[in-house]
Amino acid sequence: MTDADISHIFRPGRIGTVDLASRTVVAPMTRVSADPGGIPNALMRDYYRNYAEGGFGLIISEGTYPDRAYAQGYRHQPGMTDDAQQNGWQAIVETVHHAGAKIFQQFMHAGALSQHNDYVNEVAGPSTVQPMGQMATNYFGSGPYKTPRALSLSEIGAITEGFASAATRSVAAGFDGIEIHGANGYLLHQFFSTTANQRDDSYGGPADNRARLHVEILTAIKDAVGPDIPVGMRLSQMAVNDFTDQWAGGARDAKMLFSALGCAGVDFLHINSVPATAPVFGGTKTLVGHARDYFDGPIIACGALQDPETAENFIVRGGADFIALARGALADPAWPKKVEARGMPIPFDPGMTQPVATIENSRAWSVAHS
Ligand SMILES: Cc1cc2nc3c(=O)[nH]c(=O)nc-3n(C[C@H](O)[C@H](O)[C@H](O)COP(=O)(O)O)c2cc1C
Repeated sequence: MTDADISHIFRPGRIGTVDLASRTVVAPMTRVSADPGGIPNALMRDYYRNYAEGGFGLIISEGTYPDRAYAQGYRHQPGMTDDAQQNGWQAIVETVHHAGAKIFQQFMHAGALSQHNDYVNEVAGPSTVQPMGQMATNYFGSGPYKTPRALSLSEIGAITEGFASAATRSVAAGFDGIEIHGANGYLLHQFFSTTANQRDDSYGGPADNRARLHVEILTAIKDAVGPDIPVGMRLSQMAVNDFTDQWAGGARDAKMLFSALGCAGVDFLHINSVPATAPVFGGTKTLVGHARDYFDGPIIACGALQDPETAENFIVRGGADFIALARGALADPAWPKKVEARGMPIPFDPGMTQPVATIENSRAWSVAHS
């Protein structure tokens, strides 16, 4: 374990009105472990409690579907569309708060990457473009993705309304903030992509059109939840079905997107780039560095930051205010407490999320390897 100064990781921080005990964040992780009907259960409650007890300041929930049309991506994914789902989440929020952490809800619309939907048989996205790659087997998928139907303008409006009403439920359930999933290849990323988005209306073509839905959803959620609930956006270049995906306009697109979200009042940005420390667009700056140029508010950085010295450096010199861990947190929910005590967290092993990425499966792996 390191002797270096890692004190910045453990300094208190603030996102909007929300005070956080440290700069450590659990990144959103789909765990495909909800009960039928997308209802969060006791297993999920224990899972989220472990992170709070392990010392993380903020937990961002797994990607949750906000509507019963085309948003759901995975079998056993939790939703936020009815009272039963809301009550399930409320129990999780209360448990996390009781254990001393804060929790934001991530809302995810899978769009063309939907592998399973309890409510409809069709897949819908910006345009009729079949996503490249294969469905994720560890989220119960197999084979190629379906070709989506292109969303109509009224359906796009309904998606925005769905995000806003789901966010209203989050606030009622006690969540401290909202994160919109604009990353990793899902619906908003598809709209921003010049491949997945072939539209010739106000949502297609130039970059500001391709970012229109980002701004509309952000604005609708902010209007619905009011000024005291921070609303942020997660962004990435990589997609789950194409790890090499890049924004077509490079640094120009980054400037447009980060500035547009800043102007629309986004309360934080969450940048996912693996690794977060790698330069992008053929230059010397990281994606977080580009975000820092155009956005003054809190930035959460994610992507292979589980080494404490790397995390510390990225806060002190990399432009990040918070560091989020996915695999590092999954492997050891007590990462903050162990690192602060100069201990060694358990490292991630791919077996923890195979053959399926369920909570039950990770537990079985831990028992077999303890
Ligand atoms: C099991 C698993 C599930 C994930 N689910 C989500 C998700 O629901 N939403 C999201 O934005 N990213 C999701 N991700 C991506 C992570 O949040 C993170 O961006 C990525 O793993 C890189 O961070 P890391 O190097 O700390 O693992 C998931 C990652 C893993 C390993």
